[in-house]
Amino acid sequence: MQLEIENIWKSFDGQPVLQGISLEVIGGEVAALLGPSGCGKTTLLRIIAGLEAPDNGRIHTNDQDITQLAPYKRNFGFVFQDYALFPHKNVAANVAFGLRMRHWDKPRIDQRVTEALALVGLAGYESRPIYELSGGEQQRVALARSLAPAPRLLLLDEPLGALDRALRERLMLELRGILKQAGGLLGRPEGMTAVYVTHDQAEAFAIADKVAVMRDGRVEQIGPP
Ligand SMILES: Nc1ncnc2c1ncn2[C@@H]1O[C@H](COP(=O)(O)OP(=O)(O)O)[C@@H](O)[C@H]1O
Ligand SMILES: [Mg+2]
Repeated sequence: MQLEIENIWKSFDGQPVLQGISLEVIGGEVAALLGPSGCGKTTLLRIIAGLEAPDNGRIHTNDQDITQLAPYKRNFGFVFQDYALFPHKNVAANVAFGLRMRHWDKPRIDQRVTEALALVGLAGYESRPIYELSGGEQQRVALARSLAPAPRLLLLDEPLGALDRALRERLMLELRGILKQAGGLLGRPEGMTAVYVTHDQAEAFAIADKVAVMRDGRVEQIGPP
């Protein structure tokens, strides 16, 4: 799925936060938004998700204008820094969450849960309760949950931010492979299109096909890592 972000402006209380952001992400591409804290990354991601409306500008997917489309109709997936899992449910129930919402039948859900867990390196973890897992394992479950419905676009906001350094570096190196395999395994042959937000240059460079450097609500530079 192609994503086109066109001249997005946003202010809060008269303070400009996004000042004419434009960015194109082609189908199957992983784009990183790299910039310091406060530069507007999360705001832009929330606008792409439809959780926030821009003051100006348009968002298109495959030539469809989705600027006014309700978030749940966009079929996008999210991964945030805090995993927002259900701690007392098991891994399978957490990964199945979005599939149940979409009214998939049980055999199809079970199969997809197995596939998604294998993809993130947690094969066989189905019946483990969340509270028993390490932070890194929990973030893998959150990733599996977001990937399981094969969203048209995956939005990741500093997903490794809560992990300690060693774990972050390990998962960072794996993440690109997971995203690149996800499309084929989950029925999106062009690949999983993703926007990955981070303030960490090493992370952006390890994971993305394209890096957009943001500063003070503007894209300063776009290029390959
Ligand atoms: N809902 C909001 N109301 C007021 N100010 C906000 C709101 N959301 C974000 N901001 C402000 O917008 C700026 C950019 O925030 P954010 O998009 O979270 O940046 P980043 O994710 O790059 O750290 C910050 O100054 C922040 O305080
Ligand atoms: Mg942020």
